[in-house]
Amino acid sequence: MSDILGYNGKRVIVTGCFSGMGEATAKLLLSLGAEVHGLDYKPSTLPLASFTNVDLRDPGSIEAGVAAIGGKVDALFNCAGLPQSFPAMDVMKVNFIGLRHLTEQVLPLMGPGGAIASIASTGGLGWSRRIPTNMEFVTTKGFAAAVEWAEAHQEDTIKEGYSFSKENVIVWTQYMGAHLIKQGIRINCTLPSPTQTPMMAAFHETSGKDVVDAAAEPMGRYSTPEEQASGLVLLNSALAGIVNGVVFPVDGGFMGGVATGQVDLSKMMRRAAPAAA
Ligand SMILES: NC(=O)c1ccc[n+]([C@@H]2O[C@H](COP(=O)([O-])OP(=O)(O)OC[C@H]3O[C@@H](n4cnc5c(N)ncnc54)[C@H](O)[C@@H]3O)[C@@H](O)[C@H]2O)c1
Repeated sequence: MSDILGYNGKRVIVTGCFSGMGEATAKLLLSLGAEVHGLDYKPSTLPLASFTNVDLRDPGSIEAGVAAIGGKVDALFNCAGLPQSFPAMDVMKVNFIGLRHLTEQVLPLMGPGGAIASIASTGGLGWSRRIPTNMEFVTTKGFAAAVEWAEAHQEDTIKEGYSFSKENVIVWTQYMGAHLIKQGIRINCTLPSPTQTPMMAAFHETSGKDVVDAAAEPMGRYSTPEEQASGLVLLNSALAGIVNGVVFPVDGGFMGGVATGQVDLSKMMRRAAPAAA
């Protein structure tokens, strides 16, 4: 089979490889001939080139995990995440602060042609309403400074953590895209529609199944982890050329349906809580 995506023999890192989208991404990359290095705080049974136990809430664990992989890294897939049923600061650390710290450790191992894809969420769609706040947060320097900022803004801004963490994946991806392309490195993120993974139970519990179901329109079903993996693998592939700084919906048309008034957001808006997925 021709290697049109360009993964054969490439060294890639996948966080969150224990379950859901991260596991599906690691499997797809293995099938494409990549040398896959997995990171998670729960063990993986996949036939990876290496697995390292890393807790994204702990900067020392992140640094040791990336150092254990070492060498040249061609692509990074930031798939790990926590839902809003966890403590807000844990959600902030795993979904953004740890994700950013890990990416900063991996970047010196990347050269021109390197690519990074992270999973954001429609839960972070509020970003465009408060870019100055997001920019203040994403430009904090280092893990500890970001934690300090988040702790100081927990009541007024962070709240349950999930929406704000995902807003910052979106804003930081766009911000970094303009920097990293100067080194020939691309960075993008995805906006998945509701996806049948172990995290879905928490979304149903915290936001309500009707709210989550509303975000599954117009397709009328939840996506699969494999469908989400395809979007991520496409973004980091050789085929994606100069696709950079992009917030890429992998949602069967949800964002287009919202923009053109064809998806009824009233069910989601009736709830005080933001869209879960
Ligand atoms: N499922 C959905 O509908 C949906 C929708 C939008 C976005 N997302 C996002 O997709 C990403 C993947 O989630 P999923 O749905 O596959 O759920 P999942 O629970 O199956 O996967 C999350 C992974 O993150 C890992 N993880 C959690 N905390 C960690 C930590 N402290 N250190 C290291 N690894 C940790 C878990 O072990 C797991 O492997 C998350 O960022 C999530 O927010 C999910």
